[in-house]
Amino acid sequence: MVTHLRQKRNKMSRTDLSVETAEEIRKRVFEDAGFMKVTQVVRRGGGTFRVGLRPVVIRGEKRFQGEMTEEGQTTVKNFDLEAAKRGLEDMLEQTGPRELHLMTATGDLHVRVTKKGKALESRSAKMERAVDEQPGHDRVKRQPLTSFDSVALLKAIDIADADGRIKASMRGKYDQVNEFLKVIDSVVAEKPEKTLNIVDCGCGSAYLTFAVYFYLTYAREFEVRVCGIDLKPEVIAKARNMAQNLDVSNQVTFIEGDIATSEPGFEPDIMLSLHACDTATDEALARGIEWKCRYLLCVPCCQHELHKTLKEGGPMQAIMRHGILRERLADLLTDTFRAQILRVLGFRVNVMEFVSAEATARNVMLKAEFCVKPGQAPAISEYLELRDFWKVTPWFETRMARLMNKYLSRY
Ligand SMILES: C[S@@+](CC[C@H](N)C(=O)[O-])C[C@H]1O[C@@H](n2cnc3c(N)ncnc32)[C@H](O)[C@@H]1O
Repeated sequence: MVTHLRQKRNKMSRTDLSVETAEEIRKRVFEDAGFMKVTQVVRRGGGTFRVGLRPVVIRGEKRFQGEMTEEGQTTVKNFDLEAAKRGLEDMLEQTGPRELHLMTATGDLHVRVTKKGKALESRSAKMERAVDEQPGHDRVKRQPLTSFDSVALLKAIDIADADGRIKASMRGKYDQVNEFLKVIDSVVAEKPEKTLNIVDCGCGSAYLTFAVYFYLTYAREFEVRVCGIDLKPEVIAKARNMAQNLDVSNQVTFIEGDIATSEPGFEPDIMLSLHACDTATDEALARGIEWKCRYLLCVPCCQHELHKTLKEGGPMQAIMRHGILRERLADLLTDTFRAQILRVLGFRVNVMEFVSAEATARNVMLKAEFCVKPGQAPAISEYLELRDFWKVTPWFETRMARLMNKYLSRY
């Protein structure tokens, strides 16, 4: 028995996954060359138990790495094929409420088992993810935050413990920051000058703010200035203190204030925002446009504005009746409106999942580059059609009224 991968069981002995789904998971884990990882999270009795299995190559041999997190303690162990198969059976035999997430190069399978034992399955659309052909047990070295000596940074910003290990409670944030850095990497790769000014709107505890500075400075050799803005005096005081301890107070600065009225003190090339609440995301986009940033990289958070204004009745009533569907529709529409307004204003926009849903449920990023002529007819007419259909005026349009009216009044 692979005790290492076992999770606490409840009293039911049979699995509540269907035979077909369990068989599909076995096949995708052990026969699909694009298998990336499978994880299962069980929440019970106030505790969370997480197990995961991923392929690794150790000294040229294919192995599987199991990771188990229980009561904040993570242990990792490598298995051969037979032991990994027994470990997966332990996962599949688990019963009771839990979530299982299987990632492969061609797509994901997500199973949520409810308290009543109902297995709700969802499958992603077909994907073409790049797979590491030689995933070593040291694969983590290829993450942006392990491509330079980042231990002091990670300890200072409280992502790593005193021994330099990523804290289990910070794993989601660590993944978000790494994936965000990859997106930044993709936009700065072609930049001929090695200087970068970046503003982080709603920086909170400044994990991303510092990570961006250190990564672009030490791994990419840019001359970087970063400014974090946040309303909360306590987070700004803490961030300034960290900057001093890391000896970067001149390069990484912080403003305690509203995004709407703060000035970073330089002309930013990139505006970032990660989970700025509600319309703070729109404000961040608006300021990014006013500051004439070439890139806007924005991961929205909670969104309440359209949720309140979406009209009841008509064919949409079937959606509006259910709080959760109404909320998801409002989220979807808010980001659609944002993307479309940015298109009207001259941005090429990519809306993407920048990190897995395991790291954060709020994992949609708007990646926008100012590179087309503003006010293009197709973008405007699509926007007006969308707005007329839903009979709402999104806050972002109101915020950008001066510019938007200039373009919309032509139609
Ligand atoms: C959910 S936290 C995210 C923090 C950080 N970006 C991260 O991902 O760890 C959102 C932050 O946005 C800040 N915020 C919200 N509205 C703001 C505004 N109008 N101006 C400045 N900061 C704002 C909040 O104070 C909070 O610290």
